[in-house]
Amino acid sequence: MSRDATLLIDAARNVRLNAYAPYSKFKVGAAIRATSGAVYTGVNVENVAYPEGTCAEAGAIAAMIAAGDTGIAEVAVIADSPIPVSPCGGCRQKLAEFGGGDVVVTLATTDGLTLQTTLAELLPGAFTQEYMKRS
Ligand code: THU
Repeated sequence: MSRDATLLIDAARNVRLNAYAPYSKFKVGAAIRATSGAVYTGVNVENVAYPEGTCAEAGAIAAMIAAGDTGIAEVAVIADSPIPVSPCGGCRQKLAEFGGGDVVVTLATTDGLTLQTTLAELLPGAFTQEYMKRS
């Protein structure tokens, strides 16, 4: 694994501790390296009204956009799961808004397992702005 990916996992691992997951007890940390080189992190934030909870990836994207970056270069996601945690379907679409298919996504467990994939592998046939060219 690249040094960049290792650093991104470390950032996700650290921020995960701040996740607010009292209902699922499943804390998730995400880190995004933007095309500028800056790293943004996010955690899942649950709510007693369960559907109002947000995923870690969404938090990292929000931090990136708030800081003025709009391009994703690399992603890492980590959780205490038996196999490397995979972004949910909605988060795959959210990530695809700001990153190309070749963006590397490192999925990780807190005890050290990792799996590297890409946005294209995670979301084949993504709905993109291409489809809206006539609108
Ligand atoms: N979760 C994430 O934060 N990211 C994912 O990609 C998968 C799921 C969160 C949402 C919820 O707070 C908890 O994990 C259990 O689903």
